[in-house]
Amino acid sequence: MELGTFARHRRLRSSEAMRRLVRETELTPAHLIYPLFVEAGLSGRSPIPSMPGQDRLGIDALADEARRLARLGIGGVMLFGLPAAKDDTGSGAWAADGIVQQAIPRIKDAAPDLLVMGDVCLCEYTSHGHCGPLRPDGSVDNDAALPLLAETAVSLARAGCDVIAPSDMMDGRVLAIRRALDAAGFSDVPILSYAAKFASAFYGPFREAADSAPAFGDRRGYQMDPANARMALGEVLADLDQGADMVMVKPALPYLDVIRAVREAVTVPVAAYNVSGEYSMLMAAIERGWLDGGRIIDEALTSIRRAGADIIITYHAKQWAERR
Ligand code: PBG
Repeated sequence: MELGTFARHRRLRSSEAMRRLVRETELTPAHLIYPLFVEAGLSGRSPIPSMPGQDRLGIDALADEARRLARLGIGGVMLFGLPAAKDDTGSGAWAADGIVQQAIPRIKDAAPDLLVMGDVCLCEYTSHGHCGPLRPDGSVDNDAALPLLAETAVSLARAGCDVIAPSDMMDGRVLAIRRALDAAGFSDVPILSYAAKFASAFYGPFREAADSAPAFGDRRGYQMDPANARMALGEVLADLDQGADMVMVKPALPYLDVIRAVREAVTVPVAAYNVSGEYSMLMAAIERGWLDGGRIIDEALTSIRRAGADIIITYHAKQWAERR
């Protein structure tokens, strides 16, 4: 009886040079966006306990940070603001002298080639912590949120923001923002919409970092049910119809199937947000010596790229680029 044949897959794994030759997926700092938390009234940096290695930054710390990120070749930053005061509507989000509006020129002056993205949402600015104004029954008023989000986007563009990134999950916000940007003379400013954003427990550490936890209830009335992948495609296509230039899936690692499905369904750049809980989960295990920090982060980020993400928003960006 003749033996069957089998393929020698290991031939192409025999040395680092060979592995490099046949590697299908590339990860470079240019693909990465680093989130920054800018806090009003803070001088210097203040560590975020739930996110080891991450800090909130005062306005005075931004120029140095921006120069360091640019030197590392990182693609850009995503800005989140911690305002001095909050109110019912979240008016700090569109204040001309708001914390993010002040931060943008500091960063652009220090590092003109570092792309500055502005997260557009109201939850960091509302006293109740929801992503839009409330109706008397406590639910978020979708249509009342739209002009406020649009005004926030225009005010960020006016401050010099390169990319507007709405993360609120109100229906119609991309259209409202596109129209407002165009009317204000910012027709060249692109929109990266957090299109498929799930109501995820992986955002836990972020809500401490950005002080944006809802005072009551949760976000399941506007963010997506983690069980729904087809619906995620519906969200993506709707945002593209309304004028989004790039779309995001969020979180990333537990949603690689969604990233892949979106990648196959659209031609625009796809971003994935490797969120706070994904970061803290790895960092906690690395700190305990349970995972090898030198390898695990590379593997996680490469896997997000392999699934189909062009752009990764990740808290690992700086440390990964420094160690590379
Ligand atoms: C604002 C916003 C959130 C995140 C990004 N933009 C929080 C939320 O929706 O609760 C989460 C980011 C992270 O967990 O790293 N709406």
